[in-house]
Amino acid sequence: MTAITLAPMGRRLEAAAGTPLRDVLFGAGVEFPCGGRGRCKGCRVRVVDGEMAAGAEDRVAFSPSELRDGWRLACRHAADGDVTLELAQWEMAVLGDAEDFVFAPRQGLGIAVDLGTTTIAAQLLDLKTGQVLAARTALNAEARHGADVLSRAAFAMADGADELTALIRTQIGAMVAELSSDARQIVVAGNSAMHHLFGGLDMTPLATYPFLPHQPETLHFAGADLGWPTDAAVDVLPCIGGLVGGDVLAGVMATGLAHQDGLVALVDLGTNGEVVVAQDGKMLCTSTAAGPAFEGARITYGMRAATGAIDAVDANGTYRVIGGGAARGICGSGLVDAVAAGLDLGVISPSGRLARDWTLSGDVVLTPQDVRELQLAKGAIAAGLKLLTARFGATPAELDTLYLAGAFGNAINRTSAVRIGLLRVAPERIVAAGNTALKGAKRALFQEMADFETLAKEIDYVPLNEEPRFQDTFAEEMGF
Ligand code: FES
Repeated sequence: MTAITLAPMGRRLEAAAGTPLRDVLFGAGVEFPCGGRGRCKGCRVRVVDGEMAAGAEDRVAFSPSELRDGWRLACRHAADGDVTLELAQWEMAVLGDAEDFVFAPRQGLGIAVDLGTTTIAAQLLDLKTGQVLAARTALNAEARHGADVLSRAAFAMADGADELTALIRTQIGAMVAELSSDARQIVVAGNSAMHHLFGGLDMTPLATYPFLPHQPETLHFAGADLGWPTDAAVDVLPCIGGLVGGDVLAGVMATGLAHQDGLVALVDLGTNGEVVVAQDGKMLCTSTAAGPAFEGARITYGMRAATGAIDAVDANGTYRVIGGGAARGICGSGLVDAVAAGLDLGVISPSGRLARDWTLSGDVVLTPQDVRELQLAKGAIAAGLKLLTARFGATPAELDTLYLAGAFGNAINRTSAVRIGLLRVAPERIVAAGNTALKGAKRALFQEMADFETLAKEIDYVPLNEEPRFQDTFAEEMGF
């Protein structure tokens, strides 16, 4: 075993020699913005004690003096000897995401929580410096009762609501206890379903037509009310409308979407895809049922982005496997790449026809049904974006900037996303914005909750099921 100590808090992680650092650090809450491809430097670490020899990719990424100072790309290294690392992403000027935000220091500690349907990420912040002191990530414990929002809602409505609420409160309470019981405020950002389940609210209105939140406003608790070992105030960010929740609101705040010049958008690619389009302060949002293809679900060899997953395929069909070993399956970013490559190679037709199973590697094949699932997912997102931009008298191609939120948004190859028609925007205008829900929750620790409530009211929710052109647009956008 080797020990990896994270400065400045001195948290010690242990891993078998040879384990990719990415796997070790991800569990500790470290993000890998480009999906570990060695392109973004977002995972950079400084070796302050121990040895980690610079590799070829480090030498491309860093200057000779940075290399001498110990800077390395964590995603390109494995645990190999005891080391102490400083994580650059925990040092960054925390809230510099939008230019108009003035960071007002406060005393004490705060905790920001991104409550995702699949993953929960929590960070402990020093409110005086804005620095992240520690982080935790975990798979959402509710996931055993359904992978996505709709199955979770179905379980809740079949008498499981109290159980789901207890599960999520207990789990986040344990993360808070590990991070610090002395925090003064905890802000939770989640989608509408997570907001309702955490708050113990009736899920029926969210799960039935017209799919509107029962109680969209900010939820306030005292830590003790939730059975947590803290006196902190716990605030859950309000929902915007429909299935567009506080996580998207946090993203709008983090990207400064309301105050940007030109036509801009924020897209969160998930089972439930969310789209916000803004221009001159007018903001519209919608949610669209993309299905689970982007998460590798309902794909014959689909899997999460973990060791053994094909996560990238180039235009010749050459693939890359996370962790470097034999391919066990394919994750969402690999699927988007594979279909883009299939289109370039003529294996897949523009209408989406794949004549027979296409072998990517050993046992891992892409089937016609897999291509169909991806068409459904990308068609739903592309239709949502097209219909919202149309309300501004424009097309997606006219967007000045499109921010992609979330881990999948970071991992996806922008050129491939454009090639398959998921995003009909020039790739250079697409910005991977990282975990915008967490960034927005961190901002909320320094800002009045009323600012978020006002922003939520300024964004109009457009229900796509009431858009007369939705079905036709969806059908058009399923093509490549
Ligand atoms: S360079 Fe390592 S995650 Fe991007």
